[in-house]
Amino acid sequence: MPKVRHLLKLGVVAATSRSTRVFYDRVSEFYESVFTDHLVHAETMSAVLCQAFPRPDTAAVLDLGCGTGTMTRRLQEQGFRASGLDFSFESLRRLRKAAESIPTVQADAIAHPFGSASFDAVTCLGAWRHFPDPQHVMDEICRVLRPNGIVLVGYFPPKLGGLFSVPSGIFGRTVIALYRFVIRLVNQNDRIDGEMERGLSQMLNRAFVTVRRIKSGKNSYVLFAAAPCEPNQEVRE
Ligand SMILES: C[S@@+](CC[C@H](N)C(=O)[O-])C[C@H]1O[C@@H](n2cnc3c(N)ncnc32)[C@H](O)[C@@H]1O
Repeated sequence: MPKVRHLLKLGVVAATSRSTRVFYDRVSEFYESVFTDHLVHAETMSAVLCQAFPRPDTAAVLDLGCGTGTMTRRLQEQGFRASGLDFSFESLRRLRKAAESIPTVQADAIAHPFGSASFDAVTCLGAWRHFPDPQHVMDEICRVLRPNGIVLVGYFPPKLGGLFSVPSGIFGRTVIALYRFVIRLVNQNDRIDGEMERGLSQMLNRAFVTVRRIKSGKNSYVLFAAAPCEPNQEVRE
């Protein structure tokens, strides 16, 4: 359970940050003590990758929206050649402090500085809900992945600010609509309704040969996709 002090601070920072990037810069200091449920997905995602790559040291993995490195550090511990990309400078600074040998890049997920076919896998944990143009992010993922590459996206059921579960039904939908309004008011991006998962799943199905939904924790899933389709190829599992 996050400390009350951190929750209060989180609320103040959320209300007074004028972009998602500024928000994550400002919460980076206590981010990992609040968002502990990400550890479960990090376990699941690294276990899936260990199965796919029995020799992790041969696999280059990009952790997209790596933040302070919950997933990136786990990948490195497992022996993968992990790199992290995030647009929050302060989060990356903390990641580098904790694991200085991990290469990090400060960039937007819609435009990577990496060459085409540079990675065997891309992971994205908890960041998809923030992307204002997810199709562009998906295009970039497909571009940097090698032909049999894997992508793993970890996300959570609708939660306000990534923390408080939203009930289903009309009350939940009203809460989500209000949350959306407030988030737009402070110029941030945070899509927390079920649409995010549906859209992501459709995008993966269009772009990859194999797509699976993997259970991770109590009510959460990770989407797995392998082998980006060649242009004009339409193959599904
Ligand atoms: C909920 S945090 C997840 C961080 C980390 N993956 C984890 O699980 O602890 C979302 C991260 O996505 C990053 N992010 C959001 N939108 C981004 C974008 N368009 N480009 C790059 N990073 C982005 C934020 O800066 C933040 O670090």
